[in-house]
Amino acid sequence: MALSAYKDNSAIVTGASSGIGREMALQLADQGAWLTLTARNTQALEQVAAECRKRGARAIVVTADVSDEAQCKKIIEAAVAEYGRIDTLINNAGFGQGGYFESLPNLETFRQVMDVNFMGTVYCAHHALPHLKKACGRIVSISSIMGLVGVPMYSSYSASKFAMTGFAEVIRMELMGSGVSVTSIHPNFVVSEFAGRLLKPDGTPLGDKGKRIYTSRTMTSSVCARLTLQAAAKRKRHVVMTPSGKLVVFMHGLVPGLVDKVMRKMFGKK
Ligand SMILES: NC(=O)c1ccc[n+]([C@@H]2O[C@H](COP(=O)([O-])OP(=O)(O)OC[C@H]3O[C@@H](n4cnc5c(N)ncnc54)[C@H](OP(=O)(O)O)[C@@H]3O)[C@@H](O)[C@H]2O)c1
Repeated sequence: MALSAYKDNSAIVTGASSGIGREMALQLADQGAWLTLTARNTQALEQVAAECRKRGARAIVVTADVSDEAQCKKIIEAAVAEYGRIDTLINNAGFGQGGYFESLPNLETFRQVMDVNFMGTVYCAHHALPHLKKACGRIVSISSIMGLVGVPMYSSYSASKFAMTGFAEVIRMELMGSGVSVTSIHPNFVVSEFAGRLLKPDGTPLGDKGKRIYTSRTMTSSVCARLTLQAAAKRKRHVVMTPSGKLVVFMHGLVPGLVDKVMRKMFGKK
């Protein structure tokens, strides 16, 4: 399918300041989209926007924290004020915390993970929905393989991504016949700033140690962005991105107890 689905398409990308979101912004720019780029880091967003404009796209920057509903409303209003419509909402902003649930000293970061990954998606979808319906638009959510199969050490992250999956399942059904499609994306590991920003149980970043999960075979943000935009253009229901991810999901449906043991062995306390 040609990616011209995004020509003159008013697209909001949350978490556009780095990683997968930045790559989606650049690829959408190449296809002539009208971009609303949002995250908390204004300087990084301005650099992405400048690169998008160089590629011939229109781009505005809205600095916002998606865990705050009022700021999500502001993102939507800014997109409508600039372009008069919203065709695509990409809920991509997110982060994670590692560590056994019992090792968390308090639940502050747990709540933040839910607020950013899950509620950020809900707030943006809620405020964008009337506009998306007018445009027969697309809602795209960057969940994770951990939104389909739980992984030890990632209770808050898995919970937030399962919540995103459940939310997408329901609104997809509710929006049948409206013209609005809902696509859930379930990547495995992707090279980005994500692993370095993973928080430890005490809420401090893991830093470079986190990046040890990346190998030369890990999917790049650019490939993840391309597969995501292709799937959304085709209005696919969901995408499990890698063969290993597909295998884990299949096996989990077949022999969940065995998958629990394998996951525990791979990711759990040694
Ligand atoms: N990388 C992976 O292995 C992987 C695998 C599966 C799924 N994912 C998902 O992919 C999405 C993108 O992650 P990434 O890999 O590209 O990581 P990344 O490079 O760390 O990008 C995360 C983006 O989210 C933004 N963000 C974080 N907290 C925010 C908040 N409170 N409000 C607004 N924006 C916020 C960040 O920008 P600011 O800091 O400027 O706000 C940044 O632009 C996430 O939802 C992640 O869960 C990643």
